[in-house]
Amino acid sequence: MIKVKNINDFSVDTEDYDLVLKIRQEADIAVARQMVKDFAKKNGFSLADVTKIATVVSELSRNIQRYAKKGYICARKKHGKDGNVLLEVLAYDNGPGIKDVELAVTGGYTTSQRSLGLGLSGVRRLMDTFKIISEEGKGTIVITEIRRRTF
Ligand SMILES: Nc1ncnc2c1ncn2[C@@H]1O[C@H](COP(=O)(O)OP(=O)(O)OP(=O)(O)O)[C@@H](O)[C@H]1O
Ligand SMILES: [Mg+2]
Repeated sequence: MIKVKNINDFSVDTEDYDLVLKIRQEADIAVARQMVKDFAKKNGFSLADVTKIATVVSELSRNIQRYAKKGYICARKKHGKDGNVLLEVLAYDNGPGIKDVELAVTGGYTTSQRSLGLGLSGVRRLMDTFKIISEEGKGTIVITEIRRRTF
């Protein structure tokens, strides 16, 4: 499957990822969480980091399901400049996009009732790098990475 998405001139090619998981319904969130968790475990991430990664996948896939209705979670293992191993989690959708990205990432901003609006700010805090590309009416891409730590 080759699928290229383009939002704000940023394109994603799903061919480049080890895992490409479709999010359509509630049950897909748990599947994505488990698949990425297993992938991280298999690649030697610590239990603490595997737990963080699972939380990140839950938050991002829940946002896709809630706000965009459908989209994808992709994951891959990468090698950093210094030879470090990284795990990248990417979420993309062609949903409504986010009006004020800064505000959404700062935390405490939500368009949903009974929510705290801490999903994205939590993701940013848990991971080592975090980038969000969003265009109103076109969609949202979140790209985030975590380094594999050796103890
Ligand atoms: N994929 C997305 N598409 C469109 N809007 C989004 C998307 N992800 C987040 N948002 C917007 O950004 C806001 C903040 O998202 P965030 O995940 O931080 O909090 P939340 O989903 O509102 O609440 P919580 O995650 O704490 O349950 C959301 O309320 C929504 O308006
Ligand atoms: Mg959320």
